[in-house]
Amino acid sequence: MTSIGIGVLGAGFIGQMHSLAFRNAGVSARMPRLRPRLKLICDRTGFQAQDIADRYGYEGSTLDWRDIVADPDIALFVNAGPNDLHGEPSIAAAQAGKHVFCEKPLASTADEAYATWKAVEATGVKHLCAFKYRSFPALNLARQMIRDGELGEIRHFRSRFLLTMLTPDGNLSWRFSRSKAGHGAVGDLGSHHVDLARFLVGEVTRVGAIIKSWSRDARGEITDVNDDAVVCAAELDNGATASFEASRVAGAHNLNGVVEVDGTRGSLSFHMERLNELVIYEPGRGPRVQMVTGAHHPYADFWLPVGIQGQHPLGWSDCFAHQARHMLAVVAGHEEVAPRATLRDGYRVAEIIDTIVRSGETGRFEPVIFRE
Ligand SMILES: NC(=O)c1ccc[n+]([C@@H]2O[C@H](COP(=O)([O-])OP(=O)(O)OC[C@H]3O[C@@H](n4cnc5c(N)ncnc54)[C@H](O)[C@@H]3O)[C@@H](O)[C@H]2O)c1
Repeated sequence: MTSIGIGVLGAGFIGQMHSLAFRNAGVSARMPRLRPRLKLICDRTGFQAQDIADRYGYEGSTLDWRDIVADPDIALFVNAGPNDLHGEPSIAAAQAGKHVFCEKPLASTADEAYATWKAVEATGVKHLCAFKYRSFPALNLARQMIRDGELGEIRHFRSRFLLTMLTPDGNLSWRFSRSKAGHGAVGDLGSHHVDLARFLVGEVTRVGAIIKSWSRDARGEITDVNDDAVVCAAELDNGATASFEASRVAGAHNLNGVVEVDGTRGSLSFHMERLNELVIYEPGRGPRVQMVTGAHHPYADFWLPVGIQGQHPLGWSDCFAHQARHMLAVVAGHEEVAPRATLRDGYRVAEIIDTIVRSGETGRFEPVIFRE
């Protein structure tokens, strides 16, 4: 049994999710004899770091991410900090020889994302950008069907991501601040679906967008409010059309995430609220629901043998464990990061997001120009 030391920066929402995921990944039936060792969790709020350390079984907590970088027993650096803390710590960790697992968006701007990707890549460590939808069973089945040609030629990708991030007291979080987070809904939510268009269909080549913002901070601390909502039309490199709609002020939606793909021979639809299902449309037939929980489906046997006692549904946190298990297997040299997202994907998505914002400002369609 090989032990892999893990250090996590950020004990907030997603830092806790990754902590749970690594614990759970360690008992996966698919784990190739690897044991995650939760070494150190960092948060500038000390009591929170200690609380999470106690609850999830970390060996220690710290206020300073440099302690993770300096720890020789840590092989994997998980960056679950806010967007403006993705670059410097990830680069420092990679330069200290640690593999890097960084949250999305990779950075607040494409320039920062490019610099981060290049600096981490230059060290030779493995790196993954946490576009978690690439670890959802139904979306892996969708990708397989598309690649196998079951839908024919792909003509359209369509997506929307709606929720609310507004709080009843009217105070805004760091996410609403341009200086702290970079872009708003388009970077926070839109980045997931831009990455999915690339994962399922192809690269984004040009974009045209309307971007809106209405939010005001009741405390008056966040005065540089970024975008609340985006509607974007785009073209993919195979000639397909794509659309991305995202809003963080769609108050009645808890979390509405829809991804649809249309081909010349069939269509697919995925709804986040029903993440075990893929809806399949074929010409002349109505939609049918494919449960992606059978023994032959990706991740079905992640925890238990499947089939003899039925097909049990999976949840959102299970998908984080799929992602965590994958990164552990990468660190141990058993698997490659692809087809999960690397920091190169993180950079490319950031370039697309910057171009969408530019298009919103100019009112014109803008080509996406990638740096290599
Ligand atoms: N993959 C996903 O689905 C997903 C979901 C939510 C968030 N995220 C991403 O995860 C990142 C974190 O988001 P979150 O929702 O967990 O935010 P959060 O505000 O809940 O947590 C961030 C934590 O970082 C800590 N922190 C801030 N500055 C620090 C510093 N200098 N040193 C140490 N700790 C510091 C804060 O105290 C806080 O606990 C963001 O980049 C976000 O986009 C990804």
